[in-house]
Amino acid sequence: MVMLRRLVRSRVRKVLTKEKEIALEPTMPSLETHFREFEELGIYLHIPFCEQICPYCPYNKEIYHPVVAARYAEAVKTEIDLYSDLIGHKPVTSLYIGGGTPTTMLHNGLPDILRHIFRTFDVRCDIHLESHPNHLNRQNLDTIAALGINHLSIGVESLQDRHLKTLRRPYGVRDVKAAVGRAVNAGFKCVNTDMIFGLPDQTNEEVEQAGRVLVEMGVDQVAAYPLFIFPYTHFGEAAKKQQFKSSAVFKRRKMLSILERIFYGAGFERTSVWAFTRKSVAKYCSVTVPLYVGLGASGGSYLKDVFYLNTFRVAEYVNALGGGRMPIALSLELSEDMQMAGWLYWRIYETRFLKSDFKIRFGRDFDTVYGRYVGPMSLLGLLDDDGDQIVLTDRGTFWLHALEDLFSINYIGKLWGGLMQSPWPQRVAL
Ligand SMILES: C[S@@+](CC[C@H](N)C(=O)[O-])C[C@H]1O[C@@H](n2cnc3c(N)ncnc32)[C@H](O)[C@@H]1O
Ligand code: SF4
Repeated sequence: MVMLRRLVRSRVRKVLTKEKEIALEPTMPSLETHFREFEELGIYLHIPFCEQICPYCPYNKEIYHPVVAARYAEAVKTEIDLYSDLIGHKPVTSLYIGGGTPTTMLHNGLPDILRHIFRTFDVRCDIHLESHPNHLNRQNLDTIAALGINHLSIGVESLQDRHLKTLRRPYGVRDVKAAVGRAVNAGFKCVNTDMIFGLPDQTNEEVEQAGRVLVEMGVDQVAAYPLFIFPYTHFGEAAKKQQFKSSAVFKRRKMLSILERIFYGAGFERTSVWAFTRKSVAKYCSVTVPLYVGLGASGGSYLKDVFYLNTFRVAEYVNALGGGRMPIALSLELSEDMQMAGWLYWRIYETRFLKSDFKIRFGRDFDTVYGRYVGPMSLLGLLDDDGDQIVLTDRGTFWLHALEDLFSINYIGKLWGGLMQSPWPQRVAL
């Protein structure tokens, strides 16, 4: 099975990117050149602190400490200053604050960072923020809204105490429902809740109940993820020793179809592979524009023909910026084939796209480049092609994404795992 997965990965990679190997190197990209290339951009800000470390979570984070967080805020402000001339007056049309748990810094650094972003850049968009249910008392919700944040996401994860226990979440069902209730009534444009399915021994009925409760509570969006097992997490270690098992792929497909039925029935529409949003609500999502800069430890930036990542380690990030240096650890120059494959990857994630957008972005005809794959997929009922628009069917969304997962989980395991082990790796081959 492992051999087969490796073979599929290497075949698909060669077909789509024409590369034998994709490797990130510790080379500083020529930022002046790359920043000339575009008109607008998005900003991602990473807050790498949490009050506890969850055993399934792949993200870059460490335990929150107020002194470290205050130093971190100063370092992020220096990083913003280093970008100020490069970005100049280009409008920022997407701003996302993720983590870790951004609400750990709600009263210690986050307001200061946001003020600095507004002073330095021309921000013309809504702000999206990830939050932890334990931080959502009324006073904190007021503070979040006063910062100008209008899209809020809450890591609910499960609505059964036994699964919250497996996930080692530090709250019970009653607490998390109260937090969601307060957030829904706090006047945000969109409240998203994250839930995880495919948990050990989870039943279809439990998944159904969780979906129904969230709809009845009036949330605007649900992001329902199957439990992914990342190799360098606690669950990943346990899975290696056969001590832990998530649900099989067909069981997860069934659970997702139960959720699709509930959400479509309640007037939601699919807005990405895993997200369902009430019609007429602006969706909660990560950076929405194709080109973006990632601020903070582990922030990743994508600038048309280059991708680069900051060091993951907070102390190293703070040190680099203290010395006036960009904290970039690894970068990758992207060939046109890689850019096109990356574009396709994200459009599949969003489940719909226009071939004419591909033409605008790359000056090439979509059908000439990818047409030979689209026909068979359409025959298999994985997508609908109306000439310009391609829309993935529910079946296509699941199976094409299962294929993408073969890459994402492997690449994230190698790249993030490598950067968690060493703050300045020599090279990471994907
Ligand atoms: C940065 S966290 C959310 C905010 C906050 N830190 C919290 O935990 O409440 C991002 C979300 O990714 C999802 N997630 C994390 N690890 C996952 C995994 N291994 N499989 C599926 N979803 C996962 C969870 O739903 C989680 O809420
Ligand atoms: S799931 Fe959230 S709280 Fe838990 S470790 Fe990950 S980022 Fe932190």
